[in-house]
Amino acid sequence: MENKSTRRLFFALWPDDETRASLVTLTRTKTHRQGRRVADDNLHLTLAFPGNVTAHVQACLEEAAGRITGVAFALSIDRLGHWSGPRIIWAAPSQTPPELWSLAAALREVLATCGLEPENRPYQAHITLARKASRAISVTRIEPITWSISQFCLVESVSEPSGVRYRVLRAWPLEG
Ligand code: 2AM
Repeated sequence: MENKSTRRLFFALWPDDETRASLVTLTRTKTHRQGRRVADDNLHLTLAFPGNVTAHVQACLEEAAGRITGVAFALSIDRLGHWSGPRIIWAAPSQTPPELWSLAAALREVLATCGLEPENRPYQAHITLARKASRAISVTRIEPITWSISQFCLVESVSEPSGVRYRVLRAWPLEG
């Protein structure tokens, strides 16, 4: 019988140790003790969000993601802000490089190929630093964090008694 149990998955850029350390410092110094800080090991940039999928769909996603020919690029994380809807404090690049647009678009195609609902919100590259942050802060420039990106990942969101934990399942290289 087909196994219908699901895993909660997303595609992401996963920070290297140095970038993560910079993001952790940013989170600790700039979220003004507002909301709930994202756990250090969970900081990431989402590319596309399949959500809860069966093993069959996961296999399709991995197969299609493996056919992407993306290009390595650098990202300058230089802005911090707050969105009142999802109540998050985020860090983001003020310029989204074309390679990042292309990668995010290619992954949306991957989701469609595997029969998942198309995402209708425009893609907004960001790293969530804190959740449940109600107090608005205005968008500010920050000392840029330069992040060299040479791979993208498939990540599982695992719910544990201590909270959610993200686990990198697979990574694919970007050329260059
Ligand atoms: P967020 O950081 O902006 O909340 C794991 O949950 C990752 O997937 C998070 O980075 C989260 O984005 C993103 N995510 C969660 N639900 C989503 C949805 N419905 N659409 C797009 N991204 C989502």
